[in-house]
Amino acid sequence: MLAAKVIGHRGIASLAPENTLAGIHLAAELGVEWIELDVTLLGDRTPVLSHDADLQRCAGLPKKLRELQHTDLSKLDVGSWFSEDYRGEVLPKLEQALSLIAHLDIGVNLELKPYGWSAQRLAEAVSQALESTPLPRHRVILSCFEMEPLFTLRHLHPDWLLAPLYAKLPPDWMQQAHQLGALSLHCDWQGLSETEIHQIKACDYELYLYTCNDPEQAEQFWQLGVEGIFSDYPQLMPVPSLR
Ligand code: G3P
Ligand code: MG
Repeated sequence: MLAAKVIGHRGIASLAPENTLAGIHLAAELGVEWIELDVTLLGDRTPVLSHDADLQRCAGLPKKLRELQHTDLSKLDVGSWFSEDYRGEVLPKLEQALSLIAHLDIGVNLELKPYGWSAQRLAEAVSQALESTPLPRHRVILSCFEMEPLFTLRHLHPDWLLAPLYAKLPPDWMQQAHQLGALSLHCDWQGLSETEIHQIKACDYELYLYTCNDPEQAEQFWQLGVEGIFSDYPQLMPVPSLR
């Protein structure tokens, strides 16, 4: 029997600013048991939560995260672009997010955004943050659109849960997933055919689809045997029945 997952995309992106501590809090408060967060590095290699490589969209600043140090974080407002209610919400360090997640007792998928960082630097920085937080390993999944950071993580941590991310399934996906020792494949549902869904299932990988905001469509994915969906509206998605 598998417990399928409704995963709050970027926290709970429909109700709170993405990749923030406020969003993580709210997701847990509303009963969301898994969330997805994007992780990249500042110039001093501090891992932080951000989907973008720069601060234009979420803080209104024409600056790259690479140009910042951890001491700059307290000056950033990544909440008011979303709503005045969130003015003053600070861009979080990964370690802060992980402590909160451990406290709230939820699961997390960390999506690594390399943005030019070497696989080694990124994997080491994220590993350090995870190793210093008492989170059960089965409740942390690391994913990335690039394979190199994942292979570096695998080398460092033979038993961590890893997942390749695909906008479109490449011809050699089976080989990649096998070499990585992947738990799951995380795919854009719009780039995936039903035949490919069956192929992935036949190889015994879990399949998580992004980004699904339509409850009826979510129901169809559950019928097809998908194990997880990423949603900006996890609070509205149907809960899969046990199978
Ligand atoms: O991890 C799934 C999904 O978040 C990938 O796309 O652009 O929203 O990070 P994106
Ligand atoms: Mg993401």
